[in-house]
Parts: sequence; C-alpha cells; structure tokens
Amino acid sequence: MKAAIIGYGKMGREIEQILKERGHETALIIDTDNAAELDAAHLTETDVAIEFTTPQTAYDNIRTCLEAGTAVVSGTTGWTGRLPELQALCRERGGAMFYASNYCLGVNLLFRLNRELAAMIERLHATYDVRIKEIHHTQKKDAPSGTAITLAEGVIGNLTTKRTWVNYAPGIECAANRTEDPAAAAPEQLVISSVREGTVPGTHTVSYESEDDVLELRHTIKNRRTLALGAVVAAEFLCGRKGVFGMEDLMQ
Ligand SMILES: NC(=O)c1ccc[n+]([C@@H]2O[C@H](COP(=O)([O-])OP(=O)(O)OC[C@H]3O[C@@H](n4cnc5c(N)ncnc54)[C@H](O)[C@@H]3O)[C@@H](O)[C@H]2O)c1
Repeated sequence: MKAAIIGYGKMGREIEQILKERGHETALIIDTDNAAELDAAHLTETDVAIEFTTPQTAYDNIRTCLEAGTAVVSGTTGWTGRLPELQALCRERGGAMFYASNYCLGVNLLFRLNRELAAMIERLHATYDVRIKEIHHTQKKDAPSGTAITLAEGVIGNLTTKRTWVNYAPGIECAANRTEDPAAAAPEQLVISSVREGTVPGTHTVSYESEDDVLELRHTIKNRRTLALGAVVAAEFLCGRKGVFGMEDLMQ
C-alpha cells in the first residue's frame, strides 16, 4: 500500500512508523509547511491518505482527497458537524472514506458495551443517572473528546431518560455545548466532564449511578501506538473498497 500522511504531528509520526513496520510505503507527507502540495497531482501515486490534523483543516483536507479520487482515512476530532457533507460527497463520487473518533480497538469494544448497558438499564426501567468523564493531555484543544461524544450518543440512543449532552470543561477554551454548572444540568442532560492534564493519551469513564450503587465502564489508553495501528488497519481495509466506513465495519 502506498500511503499519504496528512498531518505530521504526534499521530502522523506514529502512523509513519506503523506503515513501515507493516511493509507499506509512505509516498507523501503533508504538514503546514507544504500544505499547498495536497492536490490531485501529488496524490496520484497514493492508494490512501491518512489524515490527522486539526478541527480547522480536516474538512478541506478530506474534501481535497475525495475530489482527487483518493481513499481517505481520518481521525481528526472536533469538526464532525460537517462529516455528513463529506460522506455524501464520497457516495456521490463513488469514493472511499473511513472516519472514527477513536481507532483503538478497546475503545470500540467500550462503545458496544456502553450501548448494550444503556439498553439493558432501559429494559429494566432501572433508575440510574449517567455521567461521562474524559481526561486527555494538555495539548488536546477540542472538548469534549470525539470518543466522549460517541459514548454520550450511545447512551442517548438507548436510554430514554437522557436526550442531550452538555460539556463541563473548566479552563478549556474550545468546548462545545458548554455548561459552567454541572449540578444545574436538567435530568435529561448527560454531563460530560472534560479534564486536561499532563501527557495522558486518553481515559474515558461512563458512570451509571443510582441511589444505592455505582456501575462504571472505564477505558485507559496506555500509548498512542494503539490509535495509529487502528488507523493503518483501517487504511488497509479501505484499499480497494468504495463507500463510507467506520470502526463497526472493521470489527464485523
Ligand atoms: N481518532 C483517533 O483515534 C484520534 C487519536 C489521536 C488523535 N486524534 C485527533 O487527531 C488530531 C491530530 O492529533 P495529533 O495528536 O497528531 O495532533 P498534533 O497537534 O500533534 O498534530 C497535528 C499536525 O497537523 C498539522 N497541520 C495543521 N494544519 C495542517 C494542514 N492544513 N495540512 C496538513 N497538516 C496540518 C500540524 O502542523 C501538526 O503537525 C486531533 O484532532 C486529535 O484529537 C484522533
């Protein structure tokens, strides 16, 4: 497989290493200093582009790949309100696109467990309040994490007592659906607390709490390698396919 890496930061560098280990070629590396080189001419030699940049740049980068007819894997978080637009463009052009808010296999198992647990609680009519807490390194700019949003959507889709989510993110500038007072959240609002500290790659905890007990699902990422490996496996999966894919497709 010949790959392009778009975004040569922490993830881009891990991805380069894993591509090498798995016998693939990195044909193109794009970062801010050569961003203008991301065009059809430079992509022509590549089977797939792997994009991990910023919430401000992901949309245009992915669009450029799709318009050039290059399959694209993206993991950039904090911009996905516009993801459906690109998925539609991908289908329209007969292209190939893979997006996941988290490429770690364990996190995707957590997504399934969380949805199933919410559905079980719904069937039992049990009274549990739900909260999510995510902790990431201080360089992570967006909040809540894409993973926390997927977990919240998993709860909201299966538990009728929760309808929306709000984000308690003290000290984090770019927070969506922000609340300054989590204690004042309405019962149907699921509170996601975001914390930025040290170099933590990512910890997510979903707490189901009744008057009498607490049930917690927690996942801790030990290093970024697991995320980069997932993205490369997704790129291998995408080569030769047409359509819009996510981790659920990879895990079948
Ligand atoms: N989905 C996942 O599993 C997953 C895992 C880790 C990180 N992420 C997300 O991926 C993104 C990148 O994470 P990171 O830790 O590598 O961040 P990073 O800040 O280390 O790297 C981002 C890189 O993108 C570059 N960049 C900025 N604008 C660009 C442009 N227009 N074209 C090309 N490159 C550009 C920056 O110069 C930087 O080198 C973030 O949104 C992060 O939240 C997702």
